[in-house]
This record gives sequence, C-alpha cells and structure tokens, in this order.
Amino acid sequence: AAYDEPLRGQFHFSPLSGWMNDPNGMVYYRGTYHLFFQHNPHGLAWDTMHWGHATSPDMVHWTQRPIALEPGVHAGDLWSGNAVVDTANVTGLKRGDDDPIVMFSGTNGVTVHYSTDGARTFQTFDHGRKVAVPGGISRDPHVFWHAASGRFVMVVWNDAGSDGGGNGASFYTSTNLLDWTYRSRFAAGWFFECPDMFPLAVDGGATKWVLTDASGEYTIGSFDGTAFHSDWASPQRMDLGANDPGGTFYAGQTFTGVPDGRRIQMSWQPGNHGSTWTGDQTFPAELALRTFPEGVRLTRTPIRELSSLRSGGVTYTNRAVDANSPLGVASADTYEVSAEFDVAGATASTFGLKLHTRADGTYDRAVTYDRAAATLYGRPLSAVNGRVRMRVLVDRGQLEVFGNDGRLSVSDNVNFDSAATSQGLQVYSTGGSVTLVSLQFYRLGRSWG
Ligand code: FRU
Repeated sequence: AAYDEPLRGQFHFSPLSGWMNDPNGMVYYRGTYHLFFQHNPHGLAWDTMHWGHATSPDMVHWTQRPIALEPGVHAGDLWSGNAVVDTANVTGLKRGDDDPIVMFSGTNGVTVHYSTDGARTFQTFDHGRKVAVPGGISRDPHVFWHAASGRFVMVVWNDAGSDGGGNGASFYTSTNLLDWTYRSRFAAGWFFECPDMFPLAVDGGATKWVLTDASGEYTIGSFDGTAFHSDWASPQRMDLGANDPGGTFYAGQTFTGVPDGRRIQMSWQPGNHGSTWTGDQTFPAELALRTFPEGVRLTRTPIRELSSLRSGGVTYTNRAVDANSPLGVASADTYEVSAEFDVAGATASTFGLKLHTRADGTYDRAVTYDRAAATLYGRPLSAVNGRVRMRVLVDRGQLEVFGNDGRLSVSDNVNFDSAATSQGLQVYSTGGSVTLVSLQFYRLGRSWG
C-alpha cells in the first residue's frame, strides 16, 4: 500500500511517486501550510521540473495534492523559488474571496505564477514575462516582506553579476510583487543556489538578518531594505549537509507567514529512495539564533508539533551505563529519543545510542559521543556544564541527529531494517561508564493522512 515501502519515511515528507528535490513556495494561508517541491512525476531521476504540491494543517501530517506547476501549461523553467500571500492585493490579481498566492520561479530571469483560489489552480503571470533578470547565470528567487521599508524584497542567486562575477545574491525591491527594481548585490564565493533570508532575534533580543544558501551555509548581518552587510568574512554551516560525509541536507527554505512568527525550515534530503519515489524532506525544524562561546550560531530543533505523533513514552533518570551492561530501552520501528549524559563524570571513552539492534549484537547505526574528541556523530560538540544532550529522530530511511538543543544537527540517510527482530534500542558505552542523566523515548506514528 502507499507509503508502506521498507525505506519510506513514516513522518518525513516524500512524493507518492517520482522524483523530488528542493522544497519550494512554503507558505501558510488561512489555516493550511503549503509545501511545493521540485518534482519529476515521470521518473525516479531529476528531469523536466514541475512544482509538486502538498498541504498540511500542522507541518507534520501531509496530503499530496495535484501538481501545481507543469511544463507546457505554465511558462518558464519551473525551477526553485518561493511564494508569498498578497494580503493587500498589491498585485491586483485578486478575483474572489481568496488572497492571491504569488509564486516566483525561473532560471536566468524570474517568472511569476499565482493562484486566486487558495492554491487549487495556478496561472502564469503575463505569459511568463521575466520580471527580473539578474546578470549571468541566475536562479532560485526568494521573496519576503520587509516591514521597515514597506516593500517586498527579492533575493536571487547569481553568478557573474554586475560586480564582475563570481557567486552572490542580487537584491531587488517591489511594492506590487510584479515590477522589480535592482538594488544591490552581495558577492561571496561560498554562496551557491537557493537563497533564503529572514530576521531572527539573537537570544530573543536584538534582530540579525540571516542569509542561507543551498548547502546549509549561512551568515548573519544587517539589512536596510536594499543591501545586506555580513558580520562575518566566512560562513558557518547550520547542518552538516550534502557536502559533508554522512550528511544529506540541501536547498533549505523556511515557511512564509507562520502565524506565531516561528521560523521553520525544511530541506531536501537527497539519496533515500524506494522503487516508486526518490527523495525526502527533512522534518520541519524551528530556527533560532543563540550565543555560544564561539559566537552567535543558528540552532535547529524539530517543531513542537512532532508531539502529535508520540505514543508509548518511556523515561529513565540517573542510570549508570557501563561497557558490560548496555541499557535496553525499547523495541521500536520509528521513534524519538532525547538523552542527557554526564560527560564530566564519565570514565567511558565513547557512549551513546545504538539504533535498530539485533539479538546477535549487530545494529544499523550508532549515535556516539566521543569524549576525547568532543564529537557527536563525528561532528564537534562541546559539553555544556559537563553534560551533553543528544536527540534523534529515527524514521525508516532517515536519521536526524540533534546535539545540545540544536547547536548541532545532522540529517542522514540510513537504511534501517524495520524487521521486528531488528528493532532494539540501547544506551551503550565503551571503555568505562557514564551516567545517563535522563532519557525520554517515544514511538512516532505515521503522519500520512
Ligand atoms: C538545487 C537546484 C536549484 C534549482 C533546482 C532545479 O537543488 O539546483 O538551484 O532551481 O535544483 O531542480
């Protein structure tokens, strides 16, 4: 049956059939979250991009809808971009009760598509006329409302811009979402594809603007409505993405218009596939800027709506775990674990979680903290007040690992064996003992409607 294949994510979005890559046009409109996505409905590899479409009441439970944008029906290259809701009808496109939903797409020039019936049907604006043409190779427009200047801003990735070339982002502004004026270019060699840009409060206080690219790199800085000025000379990486061993995370985008103001991101998780589909999205993560000893960093944590999938909770506190006596937590297929360990008091050299263990001692993946190296899952993560926290989301083909409340996050593909004999979950250590300060386990149910 649908969504039952062995590696099919049970709570990660994937297309019912065909190929999927980048998330597009993520927008909240009148009680519904819309996710569009780069989609080839005719095969399992990248080809002839469409915008697929799915809707959700909570960003957790998704229902796939008919294709939104289709070559031959809609003009232009239907590549990545985003969408905004035109609540003030500045486009003049409004027809009935629904606010226009305005989508931006295209390569080497930006085309506009829109819906006037709440994202049921979609039209191309003005036969696909390019409303902005950044220099050189360009793609992946991202539009947002800039309240301070009272204008919409478009940021587009391009190479070989008017400043003489190289990677960068071109900025445009508009008051009607259809006529765009070029304002500035942010040149940065590291910056490649799929920009997203948004303000976030640092530690809940003063606002910084965050500029992200496809590979999960980001910088923070200031934005006056026309030009972005980076605080940093080189970027940080929010997730150990597709370019890092074991990481799969690309082309992240955030929802426009989440009612409570949260900044929530989904990213393409390439690589996982079954016989009928290719590609998944990461579980939606809330972004925040927090100050660490090493500076301000973006944190990612699974959205709280995840709790709607939970059942069968198991809690442990203050358990000593040593090399000879691992702690068996549960037997489960898809689940979530949050665990805190006393690093300072440990004698173990490594400790952590073994996922999908079997009676013969084998397992599908370990999520390990290495005390000497100060790494979690092979990535740097320092203990805080002598402790380290790890949180994992285990799905059929996917593993997401979060360290210290989202300071570290890694999205990975793991071919978990969901046979009943391969569903053990253990807390383990090597070379000594460690105190498991606390552990919370929940089964996670299936999110398909
Ligand atoms: C990123 C990307 C985008 C482009 C899209 C095409 O994965 O290359 O830059 O718009 O995919 O599908």
